[in-house]
Amino acid sequence: MTALLSGKIGFVTGAANGIGKGIARVLAEEGAHVVISDLASAATEGNALAEDIIKAGGSAQFLQVDVTSQADIDALIATTLAVTGRIDFAVNNAGIGPKATLIDSDDKTWDLTNDINLKSVFRSLRATLKVMRAQGGGSIVNISSVAGVTGLPSAGIYSATKHAIIGLTKTAAAENGDVNIRVNAVLPNAIKSKLLAGSSEQFIKAITDPQAIRRLGEPEEVGAAVAFLLSDKASFITGVSLPVDGGYLATN
Ligand SMILES: NC(=O)c1ccc[n+]([C@@H]2O[C@H](COP(=O)([O-])OP(=O)(O)OC[C@H]3O[C@@H](n4cnc5c(N)ncnc54)[C@H](O)[C@@H]3O)[C@@H](O)[C@H]2O)c1
Repeated sequence: MTALLSGKIGFVTGAANGIGKGIARVLAEEGAHVVISDLASAATEGNALAEDIIKAGGSAQFLQVDVTSQADIDALIATTLAVTGRIDFAVNNAGIGPKATLIDSDDKTWDLTNDINLKSVFRSLRATLKVMRAQGGGSIVNISSVAGVTGLPSAGIYSATKHAIIGLTKTAAAENGDVNIRVNAVLPNAIKSKLLAGSSEQFIKAITDPQAIRRLGEPEEVGAAVAFLLSDKASFITGVSLPVDGGYLATN
């Protein structure tokens, strides 16, 4: 059986850890060449992931990219294009999740969170769509959150950025379907990541109890959904928000 993404080339942002790492692994297992991008401070993990993928018979490389820098995004596009002259897919995953109620939130946190979570997606979409339009197709997945369709107490700024990603996703889908470009969002809930490592059993129970499936999700379970949406199997799916949430949104 042919792998889902055999011969495809693309990038994942914030891919050295957590969900991005799981996505990169699955995309590589499905036959893609993956440009793993992340901050300089995550270069050790990013390079180790690329080496692991290559050892397992896949194809990957690491590039230092801060998604708040347009120059870095442009370098990511150029590096991906240099592999074979195409960008078949892009996954905009990098994000942070500061915690504070709205009345305790400051302007600095608003600006930083919007820059990393939201403006980065705009920067990346604008640059990637230009390439994909010129080549006549491609597929993009933006990582939102269940907090992109619900409020999240003590994470209002985060929730606002994740709602806005869905608006960008739908608009990008609407503007670019004419040339066979698909743009979708994935909405995770409670996935194992650095953020949750070391959390108490009580905390994990509190975040997984509202789900139909009462456990943490694996990053690779998000990766499987992303791989499907990026693949030609999803050829008539664009502009959607796919929850990968263990049934959280079914009851909340
Ligand atoms: N873990 C969850 O339960 C969960 C749930 C819903 C949505 N999400 C979303 O999934 C995405 C990944 O989250 P995660 O849980 O894997 O977090 P994580 O902290 O484990 O990984 C995030 C990665 O993004 C990178 N990053 C941060 N700032 C960056 C920047 N300026 N430029 C480039 N890379 C940067 C980090 O270095 C890190 O490798 C985020 O967008 C997050 O909002 C996570």
